[in-house]
Amino acid sequence: LPALRVGMIGLGTVGMGTWSVLQRNQSLIAARAGRGIELVALAVRDRVRAAEKLGDAALGNVELTSDPHYVATHPDIDVLVEVAGGTGPAHDWVQAALAAGKHVVTANKALLATHGEALAASAATHGRQLAYEAAVAGSIPIIKTLREALAANRIDAVAGILNGTSNYILTRMRDAGLDFEQALAEAQALGYAEADPTFDVDGIDAAHKLTLLAANAFGVPVNFDAVHVEGIRDLQRADIAAAAELGYAVKLLAVARRRGNALELRVHPALVDQRNPLAHIHGATNGVSVHGDASGAAFYSGAGAGGEPTASAVVADLIDLARLPVDNVRGRGHGVPTLGTHVREGDA
Ligand code: HSE
Repeated sequence: LPALRVGMIGLGTVGMGTWSVLQRNQSLIAARAGRGIELVALAVRDRVRAAEKLGDAALGNVELTSDPHYVATHPDIDVLVEVAGGTGPAHDWVQAALAAGKHVVTANKALLATHGEALAASAATHGRQLAYEAAVAGSIPIIKTLREALAANRIDAVAGILNGTSNYILTRMRDAGLDFEQALAEAQALGYAEADPTFDVDGIDAAHKLTLLAANAFGVPVNFDAVHVEGIRDLQRADIAAAAELGYAVKLLAVARRRGNALELRVHPALVDQRNPLAHIHGATNGVSVHGDASGAAFYSGAGAGGEPTASAVVADLIDLARLPVDNVRGRGHGVPTLGTHVREGDA
């Protein structure tokens, strides 16, 4: 079978991770996908730096460019991987790729939380897939879990630690007695933080992810403005220590809960009882609990940030696309112009 041909925009933490995983696991990925997955074109900010970082030999036949739009609409690609982040230009690239008949795999939760409905509609119109497992909770397959494994359930609540940076900060403030700024600097050095870390510490990144979980769990349109958002900036070491003495962990929680016919969506610091598995999620790890009417309570955890854990989800989405019938270049769009579940709330 011909390889699935990929164009990628971005060679930051997640782009580098995706590159490494595709290279290192090339043959096992091809075996599982039923065909190869081949990077054809790569758009980066600085071509010289990228060539140094990757090495000329490693680049092989990959076309390296500083023109993202060129990659998005490249005639030789089947899929665009957008791991550049941001909401302005990235929106144009993803729209252009879908309009040009490409599937899109993205890790860009900010983009989806703000333009997700329009992008999903565009994907449906063009019969293409918009896949975004990497946008929520890094390596935890929570989008697939909601869409596939828990598809039989009426979901009552989803609650999670969805931002690795803020959880890392809270963990280091408690365990190492660091102050907020020191812990944030560490998280940035480790590649967990967003380009603008205010998104991490002010709860915005977690809220972006929560809107995507809510869309999948409850079938509601993605609506970032509906989320109540509070971050961790004002927390003091003493608060965290006092909570620990009382047997609580301070966590930045993201909660989506059914309240009668309404939905409650909120992100804020909370005291979490030690009996709750979320209290035991430390460092840049994420945790998500889901309550379904048939499944009961289920809990998922794993690395929520960082290059390779996020790349694990990016490449899984690529493998899904590679498994589509090759002659079905038009893909199998879900035909529903929403990012969420196939069943709207009113049908439940
Ligand atoms: N800045 C994000 C985090 C990266 O810290 O969780 C993963 O989305």
